[in-house]
Amino acid sequence: MFLEECEIIENIKISEDKYLLKVKSEKSYKYTKAGQFFMLECKKYLRRPISVHNADKNILEFYYQVKGDGTKNLSEISEIVNIHGPLGNGFETHIKNKNLLLVAGGMGIAPFKFLINKLKEKNNITLIFGGASESAIKIIEYFDTKNIKLYITTDDGSIGDKCNSVDKTKELLKENNFYLIYTCGPEIMMKGIIKLALENNIKCFASMEQRMACGVNACLGCNIEIFDNLDKEKKIKNAKVCHDGPVFDAKYLVI
Ligand code: FES
Repeated sequence: MFLEECEIIENIKISEDKYLLKVKSEKSYKYTKAGQFFMLECKKYLRRPISVHNADKNILEFYYQVKGDGTKNLSEISEIVNIHGPLGNGFETHIKNKNLLLVAGGMGIAPFKFLINKLKEKNNITLIFGGASESAIKIIEYFDTKNIKLYITTDDGSIGDKCNSVDKTKELLKENNFYLIYTCGPEIMMKGIIKLALENNIKCFASMEQRMACGVNACLGCNIEIFDNLDKEKKIKNAKVCHDGPVFDAKYLVI
């Protein structure tokens, strides 16, 4: 991992409180995997963990939501940002000739642009992207969706199908054989997707979100419970989202 001062190429508003930050990286980009994150400096506030949205040549992208003073500060900078990473484990991407389903809810789309770019040449990709309304899914306009199957769902029906992404997943599972499901988004959505994956015997990787203070395995801020093994009396242990995740094999998650 590196500490790097990066020149900002752009830091633009996508919709309401959602922003896309593009920076030039000299070192970190070479080692960055889809699903990892960086701790971004937010001037006088603590660093914030932000997923890597894309890494292409030496440009790193971050899609983030303004949730408080730190991220508000981040949305206002335009010249240099200090980044620390890449951190976390990232998604499995060494997969070929498979039908893969990606299910994202709201800001859970953040790690999927890079993941799609890594997987799409050698696999058939189906993406379900759900949000509250049209503005929540606006970032999809910045994706190259030419060679993937895309299903948009919104709660208010302002664009795409008026349903949630769990219902859409249920529908697609009836007609398709998926080898693997990747999911990222609100906890309630991921629980639904993981349940469907387990019921249908489909391997599933879930990217978990948890409050992170340090991002580097040095505090206890990001603990979640996972199964220690898959024996009958499943023992439970703690895992750190920043260090053991953020991506977990869903069958180990206590949901
Ligand atoms: Fe500190 Fe994970 S955020 S240990």
